Amino acid sequence: MSTQNNGGAALGVAVVTGASAGIGKEYADRLAKRGYDLILVARRKDRLEALSKELRNKYGVKAEVLVADLGNDTDLKRVGDTIAVNERITLLVNNAGSSALKPSINLPVDVVDNLMDVNAKSVTHLSLAVLPTFIKRNSGTLINIGSVLSFYATPISTSYSAAKAHVMLFTIGLRDELANTGVRVQLVLPASTGTDLWDLSGFGLKNLDPATVMTTEHCVDAALAGLDAGETVTLPSVEDASRWEVFDKARLAMFADSQTGKPASRYGLGG
Ligand SMILES: NC(=O)c1ccc[n+]([C@@H]2O[C@H](COP(=O)([O-])OP(=O)(O)OC[C@H]3O[C@@H](n4cnc5c(N)ncnc54)[C@H](OP(=O)(O)O)[C@@H]3O)[C@@H](O)[C@H]2O)c1
Repeated sequence: MSTQNNGGAALGVAVVTGASAGIGKEYADRLAKRGYDLILVARRKDRLEALSKELRNKYGVKAEVLVADLGNDTDLKRVGDTIAVNERITLLVNNAGSSALKPSINLPVDVVDNLMDVNAKSVTHLSLAVLPTFIKRNSGTLINIGSVLSFYATPISTSYSAAKAHVMLFTIGLRDELANTGVRVQLVLPASTGTDLWDLSGFGLKNLDPATVMTTEHCVDAALAGLDAGETVTLPSVEDASRWEVFDKARLAMFADSQTGKPASRYGLGG
C-alpha cells in the first residue's frame, strides 16, 4: 500500500550513507515515512535501487541512488561535491561504516587505513560538505553514527574504536561550534545491533549474547525519538541518561584541571 505524503517538498532531502543494509536502511525507511525525499549512498547499487523503489512505492517520496565507495578518495570527493551543491538537502545521516575485529597486530595496515577512511574520514568530509549550506540557511540536521566503542576499546576493536572516537569528538565539537545557530547536530552511540556488520567484521553475530543485541528498528526509532526530544547525544540502549552527563562533566573538568602551566606536584619538580 502506498502511504502518499507531500513532505518531501517541505522537509527537503535526507542523505543516508550506508543505506543498503542494517541501521542505514532503517533510517531510510523512517525518514521516508516522515516525508523526506532521499539520497541513498552505498556501494551495492542493486540493493540501493531495490530500496529506492520500495520507498517510492510505500511512501510516495523521491529516492535517488548514489553509488560510491566512501573508502575511496575519488568517490568520497564526488559524493561530497554532489551534496555540497544540493540546497534541498536538510538532513545528513553519516551512517556508513565497517569493522574488522582482530587484535591490532593481526590487522594489515591497509585494512586499518580503510577503517579510518570509511568510519572517520568520510564522516568528516561529508559533514563539512553539507554544513556551509546548513549554516547559510540557519537550518539543517546532521546525524553522525558513532558507537559505544567510541569511548571503549576491546582487545579486538582498537582501530575501529579509535575511528569511532574520532566521530564522537568531531561531532560533539561541531555541536558546540554550532550551538548558537539553527543547525542541529546529533551524535548517536549504538551498542550491539543485529546487522551484517558483525559477520563482515570476522567476529560473528552468533558470538554475542542475544540479550545484548538490539534490533535495527529499535536502534533507529530510539535515535529518532532522541532527536525529536532535543538530545544531542543519544545512547539508544543506555537506561540511565545521566551516565553521559557524568562522563561529559569528568571530561570537561579534566581539561579545566590541565590548564595549570606547571607539572603536577606528584612529579616532584617543584614550582
Ligand atoms: N551493528 C552494530 O552493532 C553497531 C553498533 C554501533 C555502531 N554501529 C555503526 O552503525 C553504522 C551502520 O552499521 P550497520 O551495523 O548497519 O552495518 P551493516 O549492516 O554492515 O551496514 C553498513 C552499511 O555501510 C555501507 N558501507 C560499508 N562500507 C562502505 C564503503 N566503503 N562505502 C560506502 N558504504 C559503505 C554498507 O553498504 P555497501 O556494503 O553496499 O557499501 C551498508 O549499507 C556503522 O557506522 C557502524 O559502525 C553499528
